Parts: sequence; C-alpha cells; structure tokens
Amino acid sequence: MSKKLRIGIAGCGNIADNHFQAYNSVSDVEVVGVCDVDLGRAEQFAAERNIPHAAGSVAGLLDLDIDIISVCTPHPTHEQVVVEAAQRGVHILCEKPIAISSDSARRMTAAAKEAGVKLGVLFQRRFWPAAQKLRDAIDDGRIGQPILGSCSILLHRDSAYYGSAAWRGTWETDGGGVLMTQGIHYIDLLQWYMGDVIEASAQIRTLVFKDEIEVEDVAVATLSFASGAVATVTATTGADPSLGARVHVIGSRGASASVSEFPEGAEGVCDLWAIPGEADHVDLFDKGLGTNIPIAQINAELMPFHRLQVADFVSAVLNDSEPAVTGEEALKSLEIIAAIYESARLGKPVQPRYSSTAATEGAAVVGQRA
Ligand SMILES: NC(=O)c1ccc[n+]([C@@H]2O[C@H](COP(=O)([O-])OP(=O)(O)OC[C@H]3O[C@@H](n4cnc5c(N)ncnc54)[C@H](O)[C@@H]3O)[C@@H](O)[C@H]2O)c1
Repeated sequence: MSKKLRIGIAGCGNIADNHFQAYNSVSDVEVVGVCDVDLGRAEQFAAERNIPHAAGSVAGLLDLDIDIISVCTPHPTHEQVVVEAAQRGVHILCEKPIAISSDSARRMTAAAKEAGVKLGVLFQRRFWPAAQKLRDAIDDGRIGQPILGSCSILLHRDSAYYGSAAWRGTWETDGGGVLMTQGIHYIDLLQWYMGDVIEASAQIRTLVFKDEIEVEDVAVATLSFASGAVATVTATTGADPSLGARVHVIGSRGASASVSEFPEGAEGVCDLWAIPGEADHVDLFDKGLGTNIPIAQINAELMPFHRLQVADFVSAVLNDSEPAVTGEEALKSLEIIAAIYESARLGKPVQPRYSSTAATEGAAVVGQRA
C-alpha cells in the first residue's frame, strides 16, 4: 500500500487518547489532525502527541483531506459531526451512543449510506475474547437457544463526574443517565446475544444524584425478544463501591454463561461457564470489593479493545467490507433504551422502533420526558 489513510479525531476530551493510541498501533494509517471547539485543548492534545494539525472546528479538520474521522465529541453533537463528515465523503467511527434520539441516529445512518461512506460505532466490549466466546457458544449451540437473560450494571459515579462537563446529566444533552451512557455497552451485548427486542417494560428513577442530574441513576427493565425469550436489566451509577457489570444468558437446555467486567474497565471474563463437559467459574470478588477507579484509569484500561475495534474499522475501509458494529447495529441498543425510557414515562410496555414493522410514532423518543 503506497498511501497511508489520513485520520482525524474530533473532540479532545477523556476518550480521544484511546482513539489516538489505537490508530497509532495500526499500520497503514496516520493521525494527521485533531479538532475541538476549545482550540487550546486541541492544540495541547496535538502538541503532546506530535500530531501535525489542530483545528477549532470539524470543518477545519475535514479540510485536512482526511479519510477517516473518529467522533469523540459529546452525545448531542454526534449527528452534526457525522453528517458533516459524510457529506465530505469521509468514513466515520463514532463513539457510543450513536446519538441521543433514534430520529437523529437514523439521519446519521441515512447520511452515511447516501454518501457511500462507512459508519462504525464504538462498542469495544464486543471485542473482549470472553464476549466473543459467549457469542460463539450461542452460535454453535452449546448454550442452546437463549431463553432468559440478565444484565446487571452496578457502577459508581460521583458528583465530580456529573459536574465535569456541562453536557452530563440532562435529558437534552446526555440523552439519559446510567442506561444511555454506561449501560448501553451491556445492553448492546445482551441484544447481540439474544436477538431483537420487541417490548420493554421499565421503571427509572433519580435517587442518588437527585440534586445534581435530571436523568436516571437507577433503572429496572424487563425485555421481551422476538424469539420468545425474556431478560431483566438492572442499572445504577450509585453503587459504592462499584460492583461492575454482568451479562448472563441461559439457554433452552439449561446451559448458561455470563461475561462480567469487574472492576469497571477490566477485560471481561466468562465468570460463569455452566456448560456440560466444560463447566468453569471465576470468583470476581476473591480479592475483595476494591475501591472505585478514576474515570481516566477506566478509559485507559479500555484501550486494548478500542485498538481492536479501530483495527476492525480500518480493515473495513481498506477492504470495503462491513465494520463489526455498523450504524444500523448501534441503532438497536439506542432504541431499546428509548423504549425503556418511554415505558417508564408512560407506565406501559413499549416496542423498540427498530423491531417494529410499522413504525410506532413516538415509541422511541429519547431525551424527553413529560
Ligand atoms: N467507548 C467507551 O467506552 C467510551 C468511554 C468514554 C466516553 N465515550 C464516549 O465518547 C464521547 C466523548 O466522551 P468524553 O468523556 O471524551 O467527553 P469529554 O466531555 O471529556 O470530551 C468531549 C470533547 O469534545 C469537545 N467538543 C464538544 N463539541 C464539539 C464539536 N462540535 N466539535 C469538536 N469538539 C467538540 C469538547 O470541548 C471536549 O473537549 C461520548 O459520546 C462518550 O459517551 C465512550
């Protein structure tokens, strides 16, 4: 290959360095520029990493003739950045959640399709070997048809976290709370394992940070799948210390397995492998419950899996193949969460928009509460 792919990174906050380091470890690419609405932050980020260019806008970054843009800006800006990049013919790797409303996400996938560019969305936990091992055990029949699942997201955040950026904690800009920002990773895994969700019933509350945020910090939901299977979701950012996250799938013949992340940021492990002939388990808490881990450390620990997903995306661009997590795939977890929020608001079950053959008006409005 003669010419390296030119990479730009939009947004120079917490997660941007994961993208920079990931691209830096992949051959055939070079990070040529970054941008941030805070130009000083972009300049400092670029200077510290010997990145040649820093811009104060996405347009300035796109002017660098880049091939791929990594979108590391806050949730509500994803649509604007993605659509602008698509219209300039640039492939896009966007951080999760794809957007904060399904209408917005659908405009993004349509823009990428119309422009003929690739749109991938970061769900790096799918790249844990343990997550893939569980998926393989479903695919090859060792677990059998999933009939029952559970997704437990018991994490710790504090007031400093919610106060660290103006966009955190509001329906309008964060789009949701523990489910939208943290839980979406595990809900993505759950739906990847169990298939399309056709109904959500839920309750959400703001009980821990009630003086600081308007989005939920506690949530419970039941999900029904097209296959007939059911699952529960429990989530909070109020666990202290954090107890990590876990996705458990039980199959029709009784075999089951779970993938767990403890402490948060650690590589997922199959802590329960209740499959006849190969049964195994790991005690995640054998070294004690530990203490809460700073966000910067959690993000740093996630890096190896950002690297795998970035490599997958670069390969998709180079080989004109589909990335592991497309925009359409990322729509699913977003619209499941949309249905959860809507169910909690209406007090009745709601069908996620993506699973509906006839679009259900108003069934997937995220970030709005009466
Ligand atoms: N995959 C993961 O595990 C993971 C982990 C952390 C964050 N994230 C996601 O990454 C995204 C960014 O999160 P963060 O914690 O890094 O946020 P952050 O607030 O730390 O950083 C965002 C940066 O984007 C800049 N910005 C805002 N609007 C912009 C615009 N229009 N153009 C250019 N720059 C702009 C801000 O000035 C800021 O520097 C979010 O969507 C978040 O959910 C994903």
